[in-house]
Amino acid sequence: MKIGIVGGTGDIGEGIAMRLSPHHDVVIGSREEDKAESSCVACTAALTELGIPCCLTGFSNQEAVDRSDIVILAIPFRHLVPTLSSLHGFEDKIVVSPINPMEKREFFVYTPPEEGSAALLVRKMLPEDTRICSAFNTVAANKWKALTEELDLAVPVCGDDAGAKATVMELIRSIPGVKPYDAGPLAVSCMVECLTPLLLNIARYNKMKDVGIQFR
Ligand SMILES: NC(=O)c1ccc[n+]([C@@H]2O[C@H](COP(=O)([O-])OP(=O)(O)OC[C@H]3O[C@@H](n4cnc5c(N)ncnc54)[C@H](OP(=O)(O)O)[C@@H]3O)[C@@H](O)[C@H]2O)c1
Repeated sequence: MKIGIVGGTGDIGEGIAMRLSPHHDVVIGSREEDKAESSCVACTAALTELGIPCCLTGFSNQEAVDRSDIVILAIPFRHLVPTLSSLHGFEDKIVVSPINPMEKREFFVYTPPEEGSAALLVRKMLPEDTRICSAFNTVAANKWKALTEELDLAVPVCGDDAGAKATVMELIRSIPGVKPYDAGPLAVSCMVECLTPLLLNIARYNKMKDVGIQFR
């Protein structure tokens, strides 16, 4: 599969790029092509050092969209509207939102937009034939980046298009030690997005790091 990561130079973008690029063609996207190329060089070096072959390239965010079948929006919620407004060509693609709208106040708080969730806002902004899923919301970037660590992760996936959801679940399953779970339609995405501020509060109040979820 060809995967483009908008904002792929960030924590979650690089983490997911390193986990997916041994199995798929991955384009790291950025507002600045040079930054995408540097990120690509760093991720490739980290994988090569461990003897893991990968297929990674770095381009602008627009090229990352144009060159891929699946686009992952790895950007903070506050940049979502301007970023999507600046990009085009999402028709017929699968778009994945890992975005968790939240704020750090006295504790972490889920702050969804009036559409109900970040993924539902993405749905509203993109063309009708773009198939939207939410996924990767609850796994800390550090988990993806710890390349020598064996993974045992659960990734809930929401979406209204059964085919797109099956494709995204297959993509997730291609990462060893990671199990996708069908969490239902995109309307459920708010329930997944709000798990992250909960996990961060649990980490903070219990002095833990990179707290995650499992379904057993
Ligand atoms: N970090 C985690 O552990 C984690 C876990 C699960 C889900 N998430 C979600 O994943 C998303 C990304 O998180 P992150 O921690 O990876 O974010 P981040 O590292 O803070 O930022 C990601 C990328 O966003 C781009 N960006 C920054 N300012 C921008 C602007 N004004 N306009 C457009 N793009 C801008 C940057 O790329 P360029 O400068 O290269 O354009 C940056 O590398 C968030 O919505 C978060 O809720 C994060």
